[in-house]
Amino acid sequence: MGYSEFLKERTTLPKAKISALGCYTPPRVLTNQDLEKMVETNDQWIMDRTGIRERHIVGPEMATSDMAIEAAKCALAQRGVAASEVNTIIVCTVTPDHFFPSTACLVQKGIGARGAWGFDLIAACSGFVYGLTTGAHLVAAGTHDKVLVIGADTMSRIVDYTDRATCILFGDAAGAMLIEPPGDGEDELGFIDFIGEVDGSGGDFLKMPAGGSRLPASHETVDKRLHYVFQDGSQVFKYAVRKMYESCRDLLKRNGLTGDDVAVVIPHQANKRIITAASDRLGIAPEKVLINIDRYGNTVAATIPLATRDAIREGRLHKGDIVLFTAVGAGYTVGASIWRWAY
Ligand code: UT7
Repeated sequence: MGYSEFLKERTTLPKAKISALGCYTPPRVLTNQDLEKMVETNDQWIMDRTGIRERHIVGPEMATSDMAIEAAKCALAQRGVAASEVNTIIVCTVTPDHFFPSTACLVQKGIGARGAWGFDLIAACSGFVYGLTTGAHLVAAGTHDKVLVIGADTMSRIVDYTDRATCILFGDAAGAMLIEPPGDGEDELGFIDFIGEVDGSGGDFLKMPAGGSRLPASHETVDKRLHYVFQDGSQVFKYAVRKMYESCRDLLKRNGLTGDDVAVVIPHQANKRIITAASDRLGIAPEKVLINIDRYGNTVAATIPLATRDAIREGRLHKGDIVLFTAVGAGYTVGASIWRWAY
């Protein structure tokens, strides 16, 4: 049986809800005016082509796990859950502190989640959407009741601040969500469905060329600046618009939903033009689409929790609302999920 047939036969929804959210953004802000002093660029070009005005950058004392720990503590405090109650820690990141140990191990120690298990999940900008669905299925299986999903990236450590095509895009941040079973009378709340796809044919268009087993670190790789982000922006742009549109269209359709049923779309924030092009094609009203890229840039796995926090703060997301998360990233990776918001 194919996946779509399997879904048609499905009679009950997996039961898992997002019960808390915490975020961390470092205090230091890097504005377009600051970047004008570093590379040949200007505020007008960056705003027009990306929608980014400023981004947050960590100080030298912090790495990805430090931001992840802050976001995780914030989510747990919001829900009044002790770290010792957490079963699983999933850290979505492409900028771990180290290849190993995993960032999840460092977060476990940092928050004091004794007895938890966990792992890092690499799906670039789609990481958080993949982490949420993984967490939802662990909870829905009935084997876990408190899964912490964290998206954290320190892109400033792998961005080449002499390359104007990429250095203007990225910022640093972390966000965390707690996933739990719905409570009594909350059966309708929580996870509804997920759609995902990986497409390795796009692997060369956005990557960090060196430092892995294919091209280990050497003097030559450092001299050639191969430990920084490389991107063919226009290739990624076209793919992102098409797949963000198609994945959301297919996901809504197979659940019998239209854009009118969705209260808020929380898209990955890579480029304002990608978001508006995809949501226009979907026919979703602009006021339903959360865009906060102006203040944070592309924080990779952290964009979705940061945007969700802003949707709540702005009074655009309430208990019972349908929310659509959507992302496309390096790999390529594609993911979208729909949830009925639970608090
Ligand atoms: O997060 C997941 C994955 N990432 C993305 O989804 C990002 C996808 N790509 C993009 O967002 C866009 O392609 C960029 C914002 C990266 C670039 O925008 P673009 O409209 O595709 O510009 P371009 O790369 O086609 O460059 C247009 C011109 C070029 O000059 P010429 O060759 O036309 O003379 C670039 O050299 O703009 C120039 N340019 C800049 N000018 C001023 C490139 N970067 C800059 C800059 N400031 N920072």
